[in-house]
Amino acid sequence: MSQAVLERRVHVPLGERAYDVVIGPGLLAQAGERILPLLKRPRVAVLSDETVAALHLDTLRAGLAAAGIEMEALALPPGEATKGWPQFTRAVEWLLETRVERNDVVIAFGGGVIGDLAGFAAAVLRRGVRFVQIPTSLLAQVDSSVGGKTGINAPQGKNLIGAFHQPSLVLADTEVLGTLTQRDFLAGYGEVAKYGLLGDAEFFSWLETHGPSLAGGDMAARVEAVTRSVQMKADIVARDETEQGDRALLNLGHTFCHALEAATGYSDRLLHGEGVAIGCALAFELSYRLGLVSQEEPSRVREHLAAMGMKKDLADIPGDLPDADALLDLMGQDKKVVDGQLRFILARCIGDAFVTADVPPEAVRDLLNEALSARNQNS
Ligand code: GLY
Repeated sequence: MSQAVLERRVHVPLGERAYDVVIGPGLLAQAGERILPLLKRPRVAVLSDETVAALHLDTLRAGLAAAGIEMEALALPPGEATKGWPQFTRAVEWLLETRVERNDVVIAFGGGVIGDLAGFAAAVLRRGVRFVQIPTSLLAQVDSSVGGKTGINAPQGKNLIGAFHQPSLVLADTEVLGTLTQRDFLAGYGEVAKYGLLGDAEFFSWLETHGPSLAGGDMAARVEAVTRSVQMKADIVARDETEQGDRALLNLGHTFCHALEAATGYSDRLLHGEGVAIGCALAFELSYRLGLVSQEEPSRVREHLAAMGMKKDLADIPGDLPDADALLDLMGQDKKVVDGQLRFILARCIGDAFVTADVPPEAVRDLLNEALSARNQNS
């Protein structure tokens, strides 16, 4: 199938902050013609990481040059540790030294770390410049590049410093996904499965059928999965841009995930998307224990994750984990805490999630205790 036939477009309707997400293979090579209409002068500043830059910066440079656009680039170290004040300061000062002006456009070229950091840099630089997201990981293509959440981590927790700043365009080149490791690809798939679980049972069934070929490299299936995920995110963000209500649904699995990421030191013992997948399985298990869904639902979630070769419960996390009380304590730092009360995303069935503060802490503690003891028996 030709590249043009596979190309899809999702509009994010946010009034004067509206933008398009273009999805398909080969978009890097066309970046210049896509971005040129946004520019007041043919010059952009690109923030990237060293891994992405080594693999893809030449293709992006050539794509921009084809439309007469010059590019300056800064590559930051790869990894979550980059998403803090030191590298953020470095990036902002570099953008100023590079003389990025108020009407210029910054490009965030990388995964979620770069997208969040570069977006936040664009949000504060000269009180706000426009930026384009060119996400290179599956996780960034289906989640973090869309919706305008930008920011960095604080010693107190993840993403605690930031701003809502919508991009002017998102170019999700699905060909680039071919250079991800299988582990990174599957971690991103955790976010894809999340969309089916939270709001579209038919999409989850589609993933049960097509997930393996998608992971194996089927480009049409990849474009379809990214498009459906982005469309669902765009619909939710359009209803609730600043997360006063419905947008919290996108955090299905994230309360558990953030505690597990903190407990594993944000290391490669657990990637964010892996934590999301485990968190979704735990959220469905909790929903079952609270009498909201039948026993088949959490089993079906775990079966799909297992069929994809993904982590699906605490037993799949290597190394030590703290006890249930310590994990509950870590959940207390979650941004969804309101008046000291934890809010969870639970489900009425696959494809129908809701936000609630009405979860007895004992139910969460029991669930974690059982998951931890199953883990210890297995080890
Ligand atoms: N990643 C969740 C959100 O954008 O709201």
